[in-house]
Amino acid sequence: MYRIFRPILFRLDPENTHHFSLLLMRLVGTSQTLSRIITWLYKTPKNPVKIFGLNFQNRLGIAAGYDKDGEAWQGLSCLGFGHVEIGTVTPQPQSGNPKPRVFRLMEDRALINRMGFPGKGMYYVKNQLAGKKRPRGLVLGVNLGMNKTTPIEMAAVDYQQLICTFASHADYLVINISSPNTVGLRRLQAKELMDKLLKQLNQVRVDQQSALNRRIPLCVKLAPDLTDPELDDALSVIQNREIDGVIATNTTVIREGLKSKNAREVGGLSGIPLRRLSTQMVRKIHHRTRGQLPIIGVGGVMSVDDVKEKLDAGAALVQIYTGLVYEGPGLGKRINRGLGGF
Ligand code: FNR
Repeated sequence: MYRIFRPILFRLDPENTHHFSLLLMRLVGTSQTLSRIITWLYKTPKNPVKIFGLNFQNRLGIAAGYDKDGEAWQGLSCLGFGHVEIGTVTPQPQSGNPKPRVFRLMEDRALINRMGFPGKGMYYVKNQLAGKKRPRGLVLGVNLGMNKTTPIEMAAVDYQQLICTFASHADYLVINISSPNTVGLRRLQAKELMDKLLKQLNQVRVDQQSALNRRIPLCVKLAPDLTDPELDDALSVIQNREIDGVIATNTTVIREGLKSKNAREVGGLSGIPLRRLSTQMVRKIHHRTRGQLPIIGVGGVMSVDDVKEKLDAGAALVQIYTGLVYEGPGLGKRINRGLGGF
């Protein structure tokens, strides 16, 4: 079905198509009847797994960036995904980079985006979660980022505010320090800066945990472009600071072997050209942490084989974004069926 509509959708601006899909998913999420129908249509086998103390119905989730303001997560969960990660959410609302800022690379089955965390801010997003009915079994993650105008030395304050705001509404939280579209953000992956940041965040996390009387799993999302020594440094900090998991990876700034005319656009590249790079990162992280650190693998997943590749490399969970654009809403169902379960 999606194959029929895709050429029409692909004539529209990518960001407008995205807003249209979000609108549909939002509609599904707000109507009980539609939710039931879509859940039935996209019914997938269960394949439960426990990661950082949370029960996931299956290993597949929606990556950050799709539902930035937390408006469509209830509808998205009807498509057979065990978890949805909303965000990146910033403390204050901000408009992001000038449009156009998302580009399709059709021949490469890829996207380049330089969104720059546009969003309605943490209070708006909190209201999208507070008191909303959680679809049965859905694990909800919130991905957190600093505002563009925040100086890098003050980054911890932004992340601390975000942790306080979302601790009681999310199942797990993600510190995003790997988007290429916020100037300076990726410097936070360097050893000293990351160590200082995570230490400050843990102080807030401990307070929130004792107030809520439960552990709040905290993950760090990494870039695929870290060198081996940079990755080693990042992993030693992450493990010393008792971070629960890593998400590997965000989009890449590397451009190799691309055929599409949009290949020179500035921003982060996702989709098929990222697949191997992100799988390599998953494998390296798994190896270097001796399988002790849960990994969420993300990058270029468009089929059941791509998911198996990530799982074989050591991922515990797998997320998708660009695959949904090229393969459509049935991708989760196809993959889950391919993976099997009951
Ligand atoms: C993203 N991604 C992303 N990641 C993140 O942590 N916060 C964000 O706000 C966004 N925004 C965003 C927008 C767009 C348009 C795209 C395509 C991607 C990155 C995303 O979560 C994922 O890590 C990469 O896209 C790699 O996975 P795929 O797309 O190859 O499956």
